Amino acid sequence: MCGIVGYIGKQKAVSILLEGLKRLEYRGYDSAGLAIQQDGKLCISRKTGRVEQLVKETAKLHYTGTAGISHTRWATHGGVTEANAHPHLSSDGKLVLVHNGVIENFAAIKHFLQGKDYTFRSETDTEVLCNLIAYHYAKEPESNAQSRFLESVRKTLLHIEGTYGIAVMCVDRPNEIVAARKGSPLLLGVGDGEYLLASDASALISHTRNVVYLKDGELVHVTPETFAITTLDQADVPPVVDRITWSIADAELNGFAHFMEKEIFEQPAALENAMRGRFSADGSTANFGGLNLAATDFRQIDRFVFCSCGTAWHACLVAEHLIERFARVPVEVDYASEFRYRNAPLDRDALFFFISQSGETIDTLAAMREAKRKGYKVMAICNVVGSSIAREADGGIYQHAGPEIGVASTKAFTSQLLISALFALYVARLRDMSFSDGVNYVQGLKAAPELVRKTLEQAPHIKEIAQRYAQYHDCLFLGRLSLFPIALEGALKLKEISYIHAEGYPAAEMKHGPIALVNEQCPSVFFVPKGELFNKIVSSMQEIKARKGKIIAIVTEGCELPDGLADEVIPIPDCHEAILPIIATVPVQLLSYYIAVARHCDVDKPRNLAKSVTVE
Ligand code: AGP
Ligand code: GLU
Repeated sequence: MCGIVGYIGKQKAVSILLEGLKRLEYRGYDSAGLAIQQDGKLCISRKTGRVEQLVKETAKLHYTGTAGISHTRWATHGGVTEANAHPHLSSDGKLVLVHNGVIENFAAIKHFLQGKDYTFRSETDTEVLCNLIAYHYAKEPESNAQSRFLESVRKTLLHIEGTYGIAVMCVDRPNEIVAARKGSPLLLGVGDGEYLLASDASALISHTRNVVYLKDGELVHVTPETFAITTLDQADVPPVVDRITWSIADAELNGFAHFMEKEIFEQPAALENAMRGRFSADGSTANFGGLNLAATDFRQIDRFVFCSCGTAWHACLVAEHLIERFARVPVEVDYASEFRYRNAPLDRDALFFFISQSGETIDTLAAMREAKRKGYKVMAICNVVGSSIAREADGGIYQHAGPEIGVASTKAFTSQLLISALFALYVARLRDMSFSDGVNYVQGLKAAPELVRKTLEQAPHIKEIAQRYAQYHDCLFLGRLSLFPIALEGALKLKEISYIHAEGYPAAEMKHGPIALVNEQCPSVFFVPKGELFNKIVSSMQEIKARKGKIIAIVTEGCELPDGLADEVIPIPDCHEAILPIIATVPVQLLSYYIAVARHCDVDKPRNLAKSVTVE
């Protein structure tokens, strides 16, 4: 994925583009570039590395143009070089373009264009797209000056296989930008005498809260005065202007060192927001406004299938545990990228759920489309309102966690766990959970924000532990039942942001292989909640200790561990079983955050990653 920002209006474009790019940098940070229409020319600046490099470069150039496009790249085709950075200029110098996505048939198009004397300066798939627009532009009659640019983009896109969000400018049409999308997000910000284009709302919210979410297969033609949306087959699309409800402060650091840290501490509020208005009047179950299915349907469903990627997949595993445990309905969990291709046989009465913070992850979106094609009803649990997955689902539940900017997902994850707990309750109460168990469960959920706040008070203690463990190269995370997914999540967080090799395992499974890794150099993080498996987990810890492995134990307050068994103890408050995974997540988020900081890692922009992966 990458970030695109475009501007056309009365102000100097360059500062608006750079400000937007900085906000979108979490989406890709291999290189950055921009193009400005100025004095009848297309002026282009590109730099490898962070947006800051581009800021320095453009400071010398004093661009004054009032229309421009820009990009921060997450490379898919071609290395991280200036030549591969966007924007790309067509070989005749007429068209300039930024692109998010992958052009799958780029090799065939490149071959065709090379036969027509078009030349290429980069290794990207994107440059091919730009030259194909130039090819169609050259073929359009010059008498069609008004529509020639737009139509050449449209004709090009009819030949494109793959995914794209694009913004294009043409040297002959200085007061126009054409943008389009298929599979990659793109929004139009509607200002007063000015328009912005962006991959997500954080890049334009300081200028306007009025946005139009473009849909797949739509093009928008923008001038400083107006805009018009059409489809690839030239049908007019009446615009729907939505209003963004969150504010610019939500997308700023507000005194925190990193977005990850800020978002970890925002979790109590995110949990409140996930629950708001979702309890029944009698306080014994949950309500959802957007599932678009009747209660009777939920009584008949004989299987749920949950599909996602990465951290959201861990949320699916927790959902599986909670739904099977409380609602007694079988749940299957699959990686979206695997489900899409493995053609799994499924019950006709299965209901699908796709969990995605961004709502744009292409593997998840493609899996959802595959399930739809086979005639299943699909539901989405998404954080980003208006995102592709949210829009294409038959129904769903919004998380309302606010923008998540840190590449490592934190508050979106715990909010997904809370939504899963609410959903498990809803189905359980429609089947065989009693009124009093429902009331007790609701009370348990309502306590979550406060108990997370209490767990966050451990931050200084966890920071101190992190100093002692920052230099290790390997780490195991071990948990059972609903905390096995949290062990996976803890390991993923540590890998992602501190580059320490980590593995999550069910605690009892550890002796079937991973224990071979254990020695003084390989610490283990154990989840030790109170309950019937407490003593069994303590036995697993003994097995680690016997091999000289250091132990960090996350233990329910009041539970006593044998003396000397754990090297470090992080207490967590006692809580209802349904929110235990939420509470247990907080210490491992903090631990990986502080370890990454101690290792001087770039926490919000870990190497090789991007916030949402919109390519296969
Ligand atoms: C989380 O820390 C990861 N960076 C990543 O695994 C992420 O959860 C995954 O790519 C799914 O993203 P989504 O929720 O936006 O679909
Ligand atoms: N495929 C294009 C490239 O590699 C765009 C990648 C992106 O979305 O940043 O340059």
